[in-house]
Amino acid sequence: MPGDILSVDNLRKHFPTKEGVVRAVDGVSFSIAPGETFGLVGESGSGKTTTAQCIIGMYPPTSGDIWFKGERINAAFDRRPKHVKGDLRIVFQDPGSSLNPKRTIKQILSVPLQVHRIGSRRGRLARMKALLDMVELPADEYLYKHPQAIGGGERQMVALARALATNPSLVLLDEPTSALDVSVQAKIINLLIRLQKELDLTYLFITHDLSLMRNIATRVAIMYLGKLCEIAPTAEFFESPVHPYTRMLLSSIPVVSDEEEALKPRKVLSTGEIPSPVNVPPGCGFQSRCPEAADVCRRVDPEMVEVSRSHQVRCHRERRPDRAGHAEASVLHEREERLC
Ligand SMILES: Nc1ncnc2c1ncn2[C@@H]1O[C@H](COP(=O)(O)OP(=O)(O)OP(=O)(O)O)[C@@H](O)[C@H]1O
Ligand SMILES: [Mg+2]
Repeated sequence: MPGDILSVDNLRKHFPTKEGVVRAVDGVSFSIAPGETFGLVGESGSGKTTTAQCIIGMYPPTSGDIWFKGERINAAFDRRPKHVKGDLRIVFQDPGSSLNPKRTIKQILSVPLQVHRIGSRRGRLARMKALLDMVELPADEYLYKHPQAIGGGERQMVALARALATNPSLVLLDEPTSALDVSVQAKIINLLIRLQKELDLTYLFITHDLSLMRNIATRVAIMYLGKLCEIAPTAEFFESPVHPYTRMLLSSIPVVSDEEEALKPRKVLSTGEIPSPVNVPPGCGFQSRCPEAADVCRRVDPEMVEVSRSHQVRCHRERRPDRAGHAEASVLHEREERLC
């Protein structure tokens, strides 16, 4: 859509392997507006990281398009214009392996500044100190340390400072807290929220922790076996989930109060494992685990349909006659609200 910072259009990334073709990402479309935190959630192996790797240019897509601020950026990272590389950055899950242990933090932070020719020599030192200050690490103490001399949370703060060095608009966060202790996770999340406000950042936040999304995401998308099953604004996502898989994930989130328990969707039982992306079953990818699967689900892969203007779901259930009235009513409510 015009005005979106990122649009991913029917993205596919297939990996040919000895066992067969891995359909890691298999027709994914979504857009992110400036200032959003778009949560991409899914179980292990659903294709979240591969989606981010295509967006950042680590892999060229098998097919489909990636648009950033109106510019098509399908090319691999090395062939992308410098302004795109600086404006679109990524923070990986494991800061241990993404930071070179042989370099000091000063050397690590100086790389993006040199590559993007930001500041004079003296200006760069001031910028590195400001970056550490931004991520709440005292510069004098940390600038000359090596990554292995600091904790996991602090390493992730350095990785974030490195990503922010070029003043990006969009930061891809691939499970930025999942390798960390719970107390450190909260600190990083609060830091991300504060920095987003202060620096006008947009986030694509990848996680398998759905409960994390409630407080941080503006919209949530659920990924399953290389495809998106549901996209909705956060409040609507948690209050009126539609896809049986989403309801299954929500019903298994641990809660702390009876009030929260009452808000949870009725327990949806599911059996089985996520199928291999090499042997994707015919029909809907979720049908082998879906408690509501009908005959059509085993034959035809459903298309993404609108539950309302901002809420999409990929499930035959939405097309069945008993659901048609519900979908129509939602669209009407939306339309009336827009006319107010
Ligand atoms: N380079 C590759 N070659 C072959 N298969 C790959 C490659 N990269 C990823 N895959 C496969 O693609 C699928 C999706 O992987 P991906 O890492 O994107 O999942 P994920 O959702 O990020 O999982 P996790 O939550 O564990 O990080 C998996 O089955 C994975 O084994
Ligand atoms: Mg991953």
